[in-house]
Amino acid sequence: MTDADLNSEILLDHYRNPHHHGQIENPSAKQLEYNPVCGDTIQITVRIENDRITDIKFIGRGCSVSQGTASMLTDHVLGLSLEEVKKISQEDLLDMLGINLGPSREKCALLSLNTIKKCISQYENKSRS
Ligand code: FES
Repeated sequence: MTDADLNSEILLDHYRNPHHHGQIENPSAKQLEYNPVCGDTIQITVRIENDRITDIKFIGRGCSVSQGTASMLTDHVLGLSLEEVKKISQEDLLDMLGINLGPSREKCALLSLNTIKKCISQYENKSRS
């Protein structure tokens, strides 16, 4: 089995058995995003304390790449500071997945990263006002 095969298996396992699935009550921020190409969705709720992610959950509807990535990414960002999450680039995310996705499947993977970042923007805008 190659590394790419193994990483595909890991992603599929996250899709079938998602981590952090659900919704947080009274979250610090909540964001729903969709992929305009297919209409698939990711909603993320997050709890932020002392500028750090202390809880995060997602729900959504879509392909194995979008939903599996959301599960992996919520594992990854839990406990990170907001600044650390803001620095996660598209390349970092694709490296983390370790699979060669075509451009349209990359959009599936990036949906959850964009959603998490919008949650942080929403939280920061709310904190400033
Ligand atoms: Fe819709 Fe992947 S096909 S997010």
